[in-house]
Amino acid sequence: MQTKLLNLKNQALALINEAENKQELERLRIQFLGRKGQINQILKDLPQLDKQEKAKLGRLTNDLKVAIQSAIKTKSQSLKTTPKKTWFDMTAPGKSPPLGHLHPISQAIEEVTRIFEHIGFTRVRYPEVDWDWYVFESLNMPVDHPARDEWETIFIDTPAHKTMGKMVLTTHTSNGQVREMERVKQPPIRMLNIGKCYRRQQDRTHTVMFHQFEGLVIDKNIGIPHLKGTLDYFAREFYGPQAKSRIRPFNFRFTEPSFEVDFSCTHCSGKGCKFCKSGWHEVGGAGLVHPNVLKAGKIDPSKYSGFAFGWGIERTYTLKPGLNIDDIRLLYSSNLNFLNQF
Ligand code: DAH
Repeated sequence: MQTKLLNLKNQALALINEAENKQELERLRIQFLGRKGQINQILKDLPQLDKQEKAKLGRLTNDLKVAIQSAIKTKSQSLKTTPKKTWFDMTAPGKSPPLGHLHPISQAIEEVTRIFEHIGFTRVRYPEVDWDWYVFESLNMPVDHPARDEWETIFIDTPAHKTMGKMVLTTHTSNGQVREMERVKQPPIRMLNIGKCYRRQQDRTHTVMFHQFEGLVIDKNIGIPHLKGTLDYFAREFYGPQAKSRIRPFNFRFTEPSFEVDFSCTHCSGKGCKFCKSGWHEVGGAGLVHPNVLKAGKIDPSKYSGFAFGWGIERTYTLKPGLNIDDIRLLYSSNLNFLNQF
């Protein structure tokens, strides 16, 4: 009788689990627990057993009833919440998983890298958290020099190094200049340093974290024509064959002479429109490497000269024809409706 009861339990629980609706559950309840149900059928022979056996089977029956009742209760609750089994069509075509792509800024970084690699530049990466020496002092900006105010610097709260000063989040990729001179030791140098930069700033045209790319060329007899040729080459490759560059006198401590660099507007080809007003967009700075910077990198300024430039990737990228992104913070918003367009 004991085995019969146990088999019944397994059978009942399996059927309850399979039940597809309330009516079926009710039918199963009557089938097992009803007055004329299967349990009572088995218990018909109970009176013939001795006292001990009766007590044991009594307990077993009770457990069995409780188990069946609770299985019915659980199942009836899950029937309320789970939708009806839907029809399964084996021949229906599968759903393709969503495919991602590189973030527009990563695409821009790849494109810039390719353009400069074609003319012999080597792509490098230098620390995002660097010493004051590489970010400012070796670039001809002594401690407390007012020119440093331009870079709204975020300092790291660690003890200063004896000779290299405090640690900062790199405010520009120019920290790669002296590092590259130390790495290569002997010119020629043709460096493209792309990295993340940080400044305390946030508005439509600035984000706290952004990217810059820095070019540095050092060799014998390098002058402004080499810089201008490189800028025009980049403009044509990145913005299209009509694009031109323009340099305007400016002042940076690490270049002499120094320039601001503009590219012709891709909307109006330099005529002047509502995007550019003047026909030109400013993208960043450039100039001929200051002798003090060459000296900091242990390169003899009487033998070698060089040019350098540094621009924001975000800014340079958003000026591409057809993009028309007027708030660069969108690029980092993780908004897929926006990002999927690229
Ligand atoms: N580092 C400058 C900045 O972030 C840009 C720059 C100007 C880089 C002149 C250069 C340069 O290499 O020669 O504003």
